[in-house]
Amino acid sequence: MPLLIKNADIVTADSRQRGDVYAEGETITRIGQNLDAPPDTEVIDATGKLLFPGFIDPHVHIYLPFMATFAKDTHETGSIAALVGGTTTYIEMCCPSRFDDGLESYNLWKSKAGGASACDYTFHMSVTKFVGETEAQLREIVADGIASFKIFLSYKNFFGVDDGEMYETLTLAKKLGVIVTAHCENAELVGRLQQSLLAQGKTGPEFHEPSRPEAVEAEGTNRFATFLGVTGAAGYVVHLSCKPALDMALAAKARGTRLWIESVLPHFLLDKTYAERAGVEGMKHVMSPPLRDRANQKVLWDALAAGAIDTVGTDHCPFDTTQKILGNDAFTQIPNGIPGIEERVPLLYTYGVKRGSLDIHRFVDAASTRPAKLFGLHPRKGTIAVGSDADLVVFDPEYRGKISAATQHTNCDYSGFEGMEIDGRPSLVTVRGKVQVRDGKFVGERGRGKLLKRDPAYF
Ligand code: URP
Ligand code: ZN
Ligand code: ZN
Repeated sequence: MPLLIKNADIVTADSRQRGDVYAEGETITRIGQNLDAPPDTEVIDATGKLLFPGFIDPHVHIYLPFMATFAKDTHETGSIAALVGGTTTYIEMCCPSRFDDGLESYNLWKSKAGGASACDYTFHMSVTKFVGETEAQLREIVADGIASFKIFLSYKNFFGVDDGEMYETLTLAKKLGVIVTAHCENAELVGRLQQSLLAQGKTGPEFHEPSRPEAVEAEGTNRFATFLGVTGAAGYVVHLSCKPALDMALAAKARGTRLWIESVLPHFLLDKTYAERAGVEGMKHVMSPPLRDRANQKVLWDALAAGAIDTVGTDHCPFDTTQKILGNDAFTQIPNGIPGIEERVPLLYTYGVKRGSLDIHRFVDAASTRPAKLFGLHPRKGTIAVGSDADLVVFDPEYRGKISAATQHTNCDYSGFEGMEIDGRPSLVTVRGKVQVRDGKFVGERGRGKLLKRDPAYF
């Protein structure tokens, strides 16, 4: 059925106009004033509402075997949570360990999402070793429409690559024209600091941050940037959390290194005192890089507002409290991660646009348009334009509510953002022209999501 959204305040990364958007099939076919439509059209009156392009989360974990357990979402639960939160496309990290076969893992990750996700998706393909068959496998995966890799400089002997493997990955990425995303922390230093803290009997979640201090992230960021400069590859730092790392990334950009920066929702809103709470309350807030000293939050917000931080993702990674307490005796055993796919858009709007100084167009850019451009999805995704997919978010700026695990769709028994107020929420969300969320509730088709093929020639 065609769809006509009328009288909306249409906001993209670079424009704002009051008007109507008409979608036929999966695509936006007209934008204008007082549009008419055939009788079988579903008409939605968006008077008083904002209309945004579907939001894109560039960093999520859905299927994730990690730290002796599995993240809790399936693509069914994770995608419904995403949609209720206004995210119509996510990019999942396909994360084999270095003991797994890369291509088999890619097929496994695809099988978990296919027919299960209610929103569109694609993957960053993690390269967790570089051995004889790696290049051929990566070429096959890129040919299948995956235009970005992921490397971990941390998590030694599991996901982590050494410098030689990083060099091989970047050199191949440069040849293939794909961008490489990277988790930048120095693995050796983390391991040494963890051992030292545990040996002193410092076992609680409050010691997670001291085991991965800001300098450790700054070193990883600088090393990644140096390797990008030497190889000429294009790179993207994921979940950058602190000023020293930002300084390294910006210095590299100033030297002409092709580097983009992502920060994730928890680092804008939560600080290390959350992880210093006693027992499981602290464990809920253990992620890597860790929650930082509060002073970093203003640095991140300012850099985001200025466009120096390019994108805001979530690093959505739900481990429930039963899993978190696996780390009761040692913080090194706490599964790392905080869920956030459902909260990103309303919280970024509330604390950035409404209560902060984040320009509304930069908000759209960071949470939708720039991820689409960087990862080869634009202009199909990330904007409201004739010819783009009809992924639309009708956003009610008058809604008032609070984040609560009791009402969330993510398959997790806590929210890291519990009790935070929201000024506005997505009220209606479409994926390729089909209403998937109405009045803030999922009403859509499970399994509607498509694997998005991306152009490797973007870089
Ligand atoms: O703590 C985190 N971030 N967990 C997920 C794995 C990763 O590093 O992205
Ligand atoms: Zn990471
Ligand atoms: Zn991650």
